[in-house]
Amino acid sequence: MEIIHVSAECYPVAKAGGLGDVVGALPKYQNLLGHIAKVVMPMYRTRFLYENEFEVVHKGGFHMGTRYCDYTIIKEKTNKLDFDLYLVDIYGLLDRERIYSYDDDTERFMAFQIAVVDWISQWQHRPDVVHVHDHHTALIPFMMQHCFAYRHLSGIPTVLTIHNAQYQGWMGWEKQNYLPAWDSWRWGSLDWSNTINPLASGIKCAWKVTTVSPSYMAELKYQANGLEMLFEYEQGKCTGILNGIDNKVWDPATDTYILDNYTSADADAGKKLNKRQLCDEYGLDIEKPLFVFIGRLVGEKAADLLPQAIYDALTHVGSKMNFLILGSGDPAVENQLEALRGLFVGYYNSTIGYNEKLSHLMYAGADFLLMPSRVEPCGLNQLYALRYGTIPIVRSTGGLKDTVTDFGEPDGFGIRFNNASVWDITYSIHRGVELYADKERMTAIRSRMMEIDHSWENSAGKYIDVYKSTMPVA
Ligand code: ADP
Ligand code: GLC
Repeated sequence: MEIIHVSAECYPVAKAGGLGDVVGALPKYQNLLGHIAKVVMPMYRTRFLYENEFEVVHKGGFHMGTRYCDYTIIKEKTNKLDFDLYLVDIYGLLDRERIYSYDDDTERFMAFQIAVVDWISQWQHRPDVVHVHDHHTALIPFMMQHCFAYRHLSGIPTVLTIHNAQYQGWMGWEKQNYLPAWDSWRWGSLDWSNTINPLASGIKCAWKVTTVSPSYMAELKYQANGLEMLFEYEQGKCTGILNGIDNKVWDPATDTYILDNYTSADADAGKKLNKRQLCDEYGLDIEKPLFVFIGRLVGEKAADLLPQAIYDALTHVGSKMNFLILGSGDPAVENQLEALRGLFVGYYNSTIGYNEKLSHLMYAGADFLLMPSRVEPCGLNQLYALRYGTIPIVRSTGGLKDTVTDFGEPDGFGIRFNNASVWDITYSIHRGVELYADKERMTAIRSRMMEIDHSWENSAGKYIDVYKSTMPVA
């Protein structure tokens, strides 16, 4: 099968979170299964662009409202990612340093989607599946069915994967003329609550819809940022498929970002050297359990609860542990986390920003990883933590519920709690401190966790089954 993944992110080209990791790995594993999976994404001005060679494969243009956009499709020449990578260059719109958070993101991703559909519409052959990811690409199924110029693509199955239903790409109806001329009888396929809602449109128009864990799929029927009824109505075409991880990129035995490589057989010693490096660099005490948080500092991740939880843990539970935080997001949370540095010198430190190398070292050197998420469609951090022998402390929600069991249960290995509250987090930290004191149990849990297989080999095939379900039985 020839599968075209369309996404705003793809590691290592451009990544803001887990979407990048998934789109950088899934196609690789689909190719290993004998398919031809390709990725098309915007051409941002990231390092990857300057450090690799590309060739122009197509040039075209289209109208978006009153603006005319020229676009160029370039292809990476050496198959560096183990799949074909195509970048869409639209001068003045996509060629920027960041992926998101510009005032004209609506126009940027609209233009990106039109360019992709326009390009595919001119191919000599048809791909077997167009697989779009999240709201930035979710208007593509509509365009392929209801925009007059592209209706000849309507027979190509489309699959939408929802990595996060909190973000839906809403835009006012005054922007309807951005879309290539479309059949106005179909306005209902764009609308949700009197706005154009790209994610809702994708759910309505894609042939199949997937989300990134079975529990999140179930939760969406009662907690989907306004789309609950739609998930209920469309449940027949929806499936939850748990994300995998790229075992080649995330392997403590070969990871070049960490100081000392290790396997489950020598994890205690291997982790210790990495922990020493972290503790030396951040002025922490290697003898104390190290709790880390890595991620976007946003409400979904319950990052706003961390400053108080850390403060309470260090003042009330006692200075029995250390914390290291890596993340960026809400400026208020960033400031509070930075302020704790002055209060708890030697026990707490933080780095505000994005740092891929440091994140790997933290998965390797930490003892516990905090994930108190209010919403977590899948979560990759806990899967990386498991692979690196770091005990995940998670709220029971979405993919966290599907991948972490509590060490109090038979064969359990993590710490789970129910409420996104300061109390639940500090109590769980306290449980972690007690567990840390039992060295034998820690070692046993560590080796059990590291043996769990969350590789894409398991999940990649499930997507193939979804694609097959859109095709006539031979
Ligand atoms: P989400 O996509 O919702 O942010 P995931 O758990 O699926 O959450 O994936 C987050 C990914 O982004 C992981 O690879 C994590 O290591 C990485 N990440 C998040 N924040 C940072 C950061 N500040 N620096 C480095 N890596 C980060
Ligand atoms: C989203 C979700 C996260 C998931 C990731 C990859 O960003 O928030 O839970 O792991 O996508 O699917």
